[in-house]
Amino acid sequence: MDAFEIRGGWPLQGEMRMYGAKNAALPILAASVMAEQECLIQGVPDLEDVRVMIEILVALGARVMREGDAVTVFPQTIRSTNVPTYLMRRMRSSIFLMGPLLARFGEVQLSRPGGCVIGQRPIDYHLRGIRALGARIEERNGYVRATANRLFGTRVTLDFPSVGATENLMMAAVLADGETVIDNAAREPEIVDLADFLRGCGAHIRGAGEGTLVVQGVHHLHGTTHQVIPDRIVAGTMLIAAAATGGSLTLTGVRPEHLGSLLGKLQEVGIPVARERDIIRIEGLRPFRGVNLRTEPYPGFPTDLQAPFMTLQTLAQGTSIIHENVFEARYKHVDELRRMGADITVDMRTAIIRGVAGLSSAVVEATDLRGGAALVVAALAAVGDSRVEGLQHIDRGYQELDVYLRDLGADVRRVVLSPDAV
Ligand code: UD1
Repeated sequence: MDAFEIRGGWPLQGEMRMYGAKNAALPILAASVMAEQECLIQGVPDLEDVRVMIEILVALGARVMREGDAVTVFPQTIRSTNVPTYLMRRMRSSIFLMGPLLARFGEVQLSRPGGCVIGQRPIDYHLRGIRALGARIEERNGYVRATANRLFGTRVTLDFPSVGATENLMMAAVLADGETVIDNAAREPEIVDLADFLRGCGAHIRGAGEGTLVVQGVHHLHGTTHQVIPDRIVAGTMLIAAAATGGSLTLTGVRPEHLGSLLGKLQEVGIPVARERDIIRIEGLRPFRGVNLRTEPYPGFPTDLQAPFMTLQTLAQGTSIIHENVFEARYKHVDELRRMGADITVDMRTAIIRGVAGLSSAVVEATDLRGGAALVVAALAAVGDSRVEGLQHIDRGYQELDVYLRDLGADVRRVVLSPDAV
C-alpha cells in the first residue's frame, strides 16, 4: 500500500553511483545452485525480486549469507528440487531455476509462471530447448516437471532472441555431455555477465554477447567470486529523469557501452550527453525534439526503457512514434500518463505521442515495474503535487528510489496509504 508523494517541477542535480543489475544478479543467483562450493556474488541489489530468489535458494536447502551488496550462496546443502509455488508466483524469474536444478540434480519441479500485465510471456522456448537437451517434461495442473539422468549437447535455434530462454539453456548446457549451440541467442549484457560467472565456475562458453552461443559441457562447476555488472536500466531511467526535469546528472560506476541506443536517442532529441570510461553526464536542455523509436533485442533500444522514454517524449516538441517490438502489451502506463496531460494514442504495438508544453500533477497508479518508473519520471517533471501508487511494482527493480532521488534534490516522500485512502 506504499506510494510516493512527489512535488515535481524541480531539476534533478548531482551525482549517483550505479548499483548492480537485477537482471544479471537473478540468473547468476540461480546458476549458483550448480556449483559444488560456495559462490560470492558482489554487487547484488537489495530488491524484492532478489529477496524472493534468495528465499527460493533457502527453501531448496542452500545457505545464503548477505552482507551489504555481497551475497554468498552455499549450495552444498541443497536437498530439494521443488521450487515452492508461493515463491514462483511472486516472481516470474524463478523459471531461471529450471536449467540449473535439472542440470545439477537431474530433476526440477516448478509451477508454470502466468502471464503478466506486459504480455503473455510464455515459456515455450525454455521448454523446447530443455527437451532438445534430452529432458523429459511433464506438465500437469499448472506444474512443470523436468527429469533427465543426463543432458546431451545439441543445437537449438530460438524463434526470437529471448533473454530468459538463452540464459536457461546456457545454464542447462554447461553440465551437459558434449557441445550445445544456441542460434539466435540473445546478446544482452546480462547474458555476457552470466557467462562470465559460469566461466568463473569452470564452464566452457564461447560467443556470449554474439548471436551464436557455444557451450562445451563439463562435469563439475566449482565455487567462484563474481562482480555483477551495473544496472543499465536503472541508469537509463535516471538519465531520462534528469532530461525530463531539465536537470544535470553524473552517473558513476556505469558501462556507457551498455547504453549506446539510449544515449544515441538522447542526442537525437538534442540533449547533450558526455561519456567517459565508467561515467555518463547529462545536461537536460529545453526545448528538445520528438524522435521515433523501435524497441529491439540488444543492442537495439531496450523495451525496459520504452515507458520512461515515452514520458520524455510527452514533453518534446513535435510528434514521436514508438513501436514496441518485444512485448505485445507494454502500454499499461499510457492511461496514467494521459491523466497527467500527455497526448498519446495507441494502436496495437504503436504509440503516437504529441508533445505538450508541460505535464500536470495527478494521483496515478503503477501497474508494472518499468511503467511505474515512467510515472515517477512524469511526476518529477510535472509542476505540483503528484502521488504514484502501486510502489510494490517499482520496488521490484529500483532500490530505494526515493532515497536516491532525494539525494539528487527531488522532493519525494514514501508514504504508507491506509486502505481507506486508496
Ligand atoms: C527479460 C528481462 C526483462 C526484459 C526482457 C526483454 C530479466 C529477469 N527480465 O525478460 O526485464 O524486458 O528480457 O529484454 O532478465 N517469449 C516467448 N516464449 C518464451 C520466451 C519468450 O514467446 O519461451 C517471448 C516473450 O513473450 C517476449 C519475447 O519473447 O515477447 C522476449 O522475451 P524474453 O527476452 O524472454 O524476456 P524475459 O527473459 O522474460
